[in-house]
Amino acid sequence: AVTPKIAPSMLSSDFANLASEAHRMLNFGADWLHMDIMIAIASKLNGFFKLHFNKNSLRHFVPNLTIGAPVIESLRKHTKAYLDCHLMVTNPLDYVEPLAKAGASGFTFHVETSKNDWKELIQRIKSHGMRPGVSLKPGTPIEEVFPLVEAENPVEMVLVMTVEPGFGGQKFMPEMMDKVRILRKKYPSLDIEVDGGLGPSTIEVAASAGANCIVAGSSVFGAPEPAQVISLLRNSVEK
Ligand code: DX5
Ligand code: ZN
Repeated sequence: AVTPKIAPSMLSSDFANLASEAHRMLNFGADWLHMDIMIAIASKLNGFFKLHFNKNSLRHFVPNLTIGAPVIESLRKHTKAYLDCHLMVTNPLDYVEPLAKAGASGFTFHVETSKNDWKELIQRIKSHGMRPGVSLKPGTPIEEVFPLVEAENPVEMVLVMTVEPGFGGQKFMPEMMDKVRILRKKYPSLDIEVDGGLGPSTIEVAASAGANCIVAGSSVFGAPEPAQVISLLRNSVEK
């Protein structure tokens, strides 16, 4: 049976105090720490690079810049917690070794960036001692992840994006719950993670659709009592 994993997104934390923010969340009952790894591009170039999707090595995946392996390495010195890394980069293969050395636990790449090399990617993630996951953007059909879940050497988690990746604090997209329901029906014991706009007002629909790993940034960090939000999220999944 699947177990709930509540994963505060450290993107909403005070990066200048990352270790104490992490300890605070773990003391509040967090299971995992969700680490959003993004590389930026000037947003005016997006249209151009979209046309060249998967052809142009200068293209980046999201219009934001966050953290990379050096920050994971620093945080790892302060905690043994499961670091759930979400790679919003065009070349996830390039980050397998640096992130493994830095101490990452989970390595979730995007299916949109890895259409041709996902087998190699999964193999390398596992051989580096990390747990592989695959994510998909709101516009990507759920069928695209089926081969990765059914492969001989499969991913162990699917992360269904419930906002466009790039920023915390966006509005949850309830339409994405169809993807979660389809996955849960097909794969009863798969870890299914949802990310974007999760909080007390959206957890019920996500949990009843079948999500068990819950990423929550602004709703947890912005709450007067984050521990209450974390336990509410957990109770909804456990129901
Ligand atoms: C968005 C990131 C999320 C983000 C979630 O691209 O993948 O992890 O931090 O933040 P909230 O929970 O505020 O939507
Ligand atoms: Zn994320």
